[in-house]
Amino acid sequence: MTSKKFDIVLFGATGFTGALTAEYLKKHGKKHGGEQLSWAMAGRDLAKLEALALRLETLGGEAPQPELLQAQLGDAPSLESMAGQARVVATTVGPYARYGEPVVAACVAGGADYLDITGEPEFVSRIRRAYGPEAEKKQLRLVSCCGFDSIPHDFGALFTARQLPSDQPIRIEGIVSAKGTLSGGTWQSAVEAMAGMGRGAKRPNHNSPNAKGSKADGQPSARKVRPLRTRVRYESKVKGWICPMPTIDPVIVLRSARQVEEFGPDFRYGHSMRIGSLPRLVAGGALLGGVFTMAQLPPTRKLLLRMRTSGEGPDAQTRAKSSFRVTFLGRAGDQKVITEVRGGDPGYGETSKMLAESALCMAFDRDDLPARFGHLTPVAALGDPLLQRLQAAGIEFESVG
Ligand SMILES: NC(=O)c1ccc[n+]([C@@H]2O[C@H](COP(=O)([O-])OP(=O)(O)OC[C@H]3O[C@@H](n4cnc5c(N)ncnc54)[C@H](OP(=O)(O)O)[C@@H]3O)[C@@H](O)[C@H]2O)c1
Repeated sequence: MTSKKFDIVLFGATGFTGALTAEYLKKHGKKHGGEQLSWAMAGRDLAKLEALALRLETLGGEAPQPELLQAQLGDAPSLESMAGQARVVATTVGPYARYGEPVVAACVAGGADYLDITGEPEFVSRIRRAYGPEAEKKQLRLVSCCGFDSIPHDFGALFTARQLPSDQPIRIEGIVSAKGTLSGGTWQSAVEAMAGMGRGAKRPNHNSPNAKGSKADGQPSARKVRPLRTRVRYESKVKGWICPMPTIDPVIVLRSARQVEEFGPDFRYGHSMRIGSLPRLVAGGALLGGVFTMAQLPPTRKLLLRMRTSGEGPDAQTRAKSSFRVTFLGRAGDQKVITEVRGGDPGYGETSKMLAESALCMAFDRDDLPARFGHLTPVAALGDPLLQRLQAAGIEFESVG
C-alpha cells in the first residue's frame, strides 16, 4: 500500500456531493506532521474535472491541487488503474445499486481500501457477500454508509453505550430529526431503492440476515445483539410524534454492536424518526406510500426520476439553513441516559465532511485503526480515530440527560 501514488482518490467528484467532498478535502486535507496529502479526483468527464479543479484553486486550503484521472464504469481497465494508484478510493457515484459494484471489484483487485456513502440496503448486502471475504484475506477495508446514512447513528449509538454500565443489558432508541432538501442523485437512489424493495430485494427490516448477524460479523456466542421494536407514539423527550424508520441505519448499528464488545453482552437498538405533529405523520406516510407505489411501475417511475436530475442539489443558502439532531434514549438496568448527535445540513454539507474525514482517517490513522478487515461498518472499521475527527470537525456528540 505504501507504494501507491495517491493517498486518496475521490471518484464521482463532478457530482453534487462529490464536488462538496472535493472542496472539503482541498480546504482541510492534510497529513499529520507537515507532509502534503497526495490526492486525485476521478470521473468520466475530464472537462468537468478540469472546471472543478479551477474552482478548487481559488479556495486555497491545506491540500495541494489534485491530479485528475479519467475513469468510467463501462471501462474496467480505467477503474483498475484508478484503484491501483490509490491507498483509499472514496466514491460518490450513485445510485450504487446501479453503478457501485465495479468500483468495489476494482478496489479489491487493485488493493485499495474503499468508502462510499450509500444508504441502499440491497447494494450493501450484495457487496458484503461478494467481496467481503476476499477483502478480509487481503487485509483491505470496504466501508459502506459513510454519510448521513449511517455515521451519526452508528457513532451516536457507540457514544451512548459508553455512558451506560457495560455489564447490563443495554437498550438504545435513536430518534432522528432532520431539516434539509434532497439532491437529484439522492432522489434517483431513493426511487430505485423503493423499486428494488417492490421487486423483493432485501429490505432493511429487523429480521433480515444482516440484522440477525452472521459468522462474518464475528459475533461471540456469549453476546446477544438484537433489534429493539419501536412504535408510532408521542415521545415527550423529543416533544413530538415519532415513527419507526426502516432505513439501513439500524442494520448498521446492530452489525457494529456484533463486532465491537463495548456495546455490552446484551444489546438492542431501535430507530425512529421525529415527525412532529400527528397530521404531519399521517400526511408524510401518505406521501411516502404514494411515491413507493409510483416507483413500482416503469412509466410512473420514469416520471418520478424526472422530478430531480443528477448533478442538482440544494444551494449554499438552503444548506446553511439545514440541520440534523439524533436523540438517543439509552437505558441499562436502572440507569438512563439521553445523548444527542448534532450537525448542519445532513445530506450534503455534513455528508461530504463525514466522507472526507473517513477517507483521511483511513489513509492517515492506519496504525490506530481496529485490526478488522473485509466489509465493515464505519464504527467497526474506523472507531475512535474517526470519532475524534468528527468531533474536531464540528459534529457534536453530547450527553444531555
Ligand atoms: N447516505 C447519504 O447520506 C447520502 C448523502 C448524499 C448522497 N448520497 C448518495 O450519493 C450518491 C451521489 O449523489 P449526488 O447527489 O452527488 O449524485 P449526482 O450529482 O448525480 O452525482 C453522480 C456522480 O456519478 C457520476 N457518474 C454517473 N455515471 C457514471 C459513469 N458511468 N461513470 C463514471 N461516473 C459516473 C456522475 O458523473 P458526471 O458528473 O460525469 O455525470 C457524478 O459525478 C447517490 O447515490 C446518493 O444517494 C448519500
